[in-house]
Amino acid sequence: MRDFALIHLNGVRREIRGREALMMLAEWLRKEAGLSGTKIVCAEGDCGACTVLRASCRARSHSDQYLNFEAMNSCIATVAQMDGTHIVTVEGMQCGDHLSPAQEAMRKCHASQCGYCTPGFVMAISAMLERHDQADARTASNYLTGNLCRCTGYAPIVEAALTVRATEKHSVARRYSDPHLISESVSSTKLSMLVEYDGTKLFAPVSLREAVTFSAAHPGTRVLGAATDLGVQVNKGKPLPTSLLSLHLIPELYETKLTRSRVTFGSRVTLAEVRRVSQDVAPEFARFLNLFASPQIKNVATLVGNIANGSPIGDTLPFLLIAGGEVHVASRPGAKGVVRKRKIPMTELYVGYKKLALEIGEIITHISFDRTSAKEVMSLCKVTQRKDLDISAVSGAFSLTLKSILKASRNGKTTPYVVCARIAYGGVAATPLRMPEVELALQGELTTERIESAAHLIARSIKPISDVRGSASYRRVAAANLFRRFGNEVLRG
Ligand SMILES: Cc1cc2nc3c(=O)[nH]c(=O)nc-3n(C[C@H](O)[C@H](O)[C@H](O)COP(=O)(O)OP(=O)(O)OC[C@H]3O[C@@H](n4cnc5c(N)ncnc54)[C@H](O)[C@@H]3O)c2cc1C
Ligand code: FES
Ligand code: FES
Repeated sequence: MRDFALIHLNGVRREIRGREALMMLAEWLRKEAGLSGTKIVCAEGDCGACTVLRASCRARSHSDQYLNFEAMNSCIATVAQMDGTHIVTVEGMQCGDHLSPAQEAMRKCHASQCGYCTPGFVMAISAMLERHDQADARTASNYLTGNLCRCTGYAPIVEAALTVRATEKHSVARRYSDPHLISESVSSTKLSMLVEYDGTKLFAPVSLREAVTFSAAHPGTRVLGAATDLGVQVNKGKPLPTSLLSLHLIPELYETKLTRSRVTFGSRVTLAEVRRVSQDVAPEFARFLNLFASPQIKNVATLVGNIANGSPIGDTLPFLLIAGGEVHVASRPGAKGVVRKRKIPMTELYVGYKKLALEIGEIITHISFDRTSAKEVMSLCKVTQRKDLDISAVSGAFSLTLKSILKASRNGKTTPYVVCARIAYGGVAATPLRMPEVELALQGELTTERIESAAHLIARSIKPISDVRGSASYRRVAAANLFRRFGNEVLRG
């Protein structure tokens, strides 16, 4: 058992213990590591000023020669969770006397005024250069969505991102993928880690058995995915829970399994990876995940964290409800010493506002759902105050399986026939909802009248609340209209 988190920071090995291991990474970089180039502005994961590059040795495949560096926000993750990773900050970007390509482009394009956001933009652009030698406008704006600037109006920053070119000499992966340091990280992270300070302990076991034994022995333990939720709460003054369980050292929780009909992701699989895999197996879900948070959040936050958070406006929940989602959970070994496992359908998971049907000590190991069938027409949508990176007031997931034989109508046109309908909503009750009554009512010939009556049934069946994102009556109208739009689009073909 180790009592320290091992990280490689700008290529230098660091063992971090006790109080420092439980600090947020950005604060630690600035106050303890003396690297104040990383800025903290919002401390909530929203502005990107604290962006650093991170490569995990745990999710690494043996054939990879180079580390896979991605951008993340350092303000809302503890240092202990960086165990086994390589972190590069803005101080690590310069090559001798030469600025990195991203730094040079920002300088040339006059893309910095007060300069507070600048290190974050440099790191976001550098993350882009790790994947794209030269970016088009869409790619550049995707990589920049997680960074805010109050001064420049963005045009010069976008210009910097469009004119910059990657160079081999400055590639972060090439500069920082030292095989010796990588094998050191890999071998250290084969040992469990326990860091403690002032009554708070964070345990990171290397096996599921240890994890469930610990969570059963410490009721009230907070399981950590990427801790994007916890990080925000702590920065707002909430104390760290006294017992934390990080699953980052358990290899089986990083797996992705595909069968002909189902997709399964381990609880450590990030939203960025889920989006990538879903492009082939659930394309509408992949498209929808483009609207989920920034790259800096998606590169670390997990799908299982979104599910376990249990918010009725969690973006992925309506999709998982209509896609036959099941969470796989594990708990303390039984009499024969075998870890107990069971599956809970998503439709039975939420039993009250942010309340899950998990027993004390149970942790989620995987989530599985159906591949989208070629016969389904699916639409996932959300109503927000702005298009990107916003929390939903209402979200909807709709799927219709249509019969291939179309009924001829009087004017010679054909009409689609609904064999199976699946409808779910978020933001319309204390829990996300699947709507079997509406689904039944939709079976049969799809007509304008049937769509209208389903929309009315939706409005009658939901019990939204009024809050800052919308009144109950607004949500009722929005929920019905989302379905109307979908139904009419299907009808028009
Ligand atoms: C800036 C920002 C933007 C965001 N944008 C969006 C957005 O667009 N849409 C959206 O829906 N959400 C959004 N979120 C919320 C959050 O990021 C997501 O819910 C994310 O998926 C959480 O993943 P995580 O790995 O960080 O989970 P964590 O924060 O680590 O965990 C969340 C909850 O799940 C529990 N948990 C985690 N893993 C397990 C497990 N294996 N077993 C049991 N319990 C577990 C934790 O104890 C905690 O209660 C945003 C958050 C931030 C900070
Ligand atoms: S300081 Fe704003 S995202 Fe971290
Ligand atoms: S230059 Fe001032 S915030 Fe961007």
